[in-house]
Amino acid sequence: MDTQVDDLVGMGLTAWSKAYAPYSKFVVGAAVKCKSGAVLVGANIENRSFGLTICAERVAMCSAVAGGEQDFVALAVTADSDEPIVPSGACQQFLAEFNPDLIIVRATVRGQRKIENLSHLFADATRGILKHADLT
Ligand code: THU
Repeated sequence: MDTQVDDLVGMGLTAWSKAYAPYSKFVVGAAVKCKSGAVLVGANIENRSFGLTICAERVAMCSAVAGGEQDFVALAVTADSDEPIVPSGACQQFLAEFNPDLIIVRATVRGQRKIENLSHLFADATRGILKHADLT
């Protein structure tokens, strides 16, 4: 398990170095592990129209889904921060769409790690939303 976590964080770090964050200068990398074993990566991509910025987690997820993956096991998110960051609320909702129990590995570039379940960060993901369109 530890090696798997290391590998996932490591892949997120390769993406971290490719972020486009000239405005905030806050660089974030992510890697999502699929049930198939595939790992897809993402980094934050900012825009001068600030609202168009996309977080690293969503870039990784979009890449995975576009590649045919929809079953996810874990996502690592890494930043150069004092403490491991928590995925933004928008990202939590986006991740929960595919797996509300996703394992979230929060890491810093200096090696701090925190592992928790998405359902702990973002409880009751579907509450009140589109009950008539429930897929389960
Ligand atoms: N950011 C992420 O990539 N993921 C998060 O979960 C939080 C924030 C990015 C967005 C923006 O480019 C920068 O960090 C500062 O908010």
